[in-house]
Amino acid sequence: MKQEELKKLVGEKAVDWVHNDMIVGLGTGSTVKYMVTALAQKIKTEHLEITGVVTSARTAEQARSLGIRLKSVDEVDHIDLTIDGADEVSADYQGIKGGGAALLFEKIVATNSRKNIWIVDQSKLVKQLGAFPLPVEVIPYGSQQLLTRFAAKGFHPSFRLTSDGQKVKTDSDNFIIDLHLGEITAPAEMATYLKQQVGVVEQGLFLDTVNTVIAGFDDGPRVFE
Ligand code: A5P
Repeated sequence: MKQEELKKLVGEKAVDWVHNDMIVGLGTGSTVKYMVTALAQKIKTEHLEITGVVTSARTAEQARSLGIRLKSVDEVDHIDLTIDGADEVSADYQGIKGGGAALLFEKIVATNSRKNIWIVDQSKLVKQLGAFPLPVEVIPYGSQQLLTRFAAKGFHPSFRLTSDGQKVKTDSDNFIIDLHLGEITAPAEMATYLKQQVGVVEQGLFLDTVNTVIAGFDDGPRVFE
């Protein structure tokens, strides 16, 4: 199966976890897009009362266009379940997220969710995190100094750029610095170091966040819990 078909497969599978009256966190990315489409369909066919809490302007636009009722994370008293994608997932369910630059809102929504599910195609399952560049969201002021500091640490940092060479801006008007680490042997220490650097708003290691991973394989979706 092609990667796109695997993404669709897990996106559609994930809505099995959505039940009536739930408040559901809606992640961001190309895999989540299939889930949001499937969720809108399920809401219509099963006449469900569902409220979505989005993690990006992109997902908000799609969900709204499909008629999903939305509230902001600050308007709800809980989130039952959040379904999101990931860029890498290790065997112990730790992950890297932020390939779509939505890591800050994704982490806020995930942190406030009772349950988190990641949906990925099989290529995202790794032995060790770090081949995927680790995204770090930084405020623009002082960001060049942070880049220099990360370079001195041997993190091989680069500002994420748009196709026309501008620095990518997140939904919070921050920049993304990607760290080309190759491997992350001590994810918790790395996360702590990054969060301690002034100017860093959030970083893309999502540790001890997820309860369930749905991975797409050629013979169908597999659920890891
Ligand atoms: C968005 O910032 C990311 O965390 C995405 O969830 C992640 O990059 C997975 O995206 P895809 O489903 O597009 O691969």
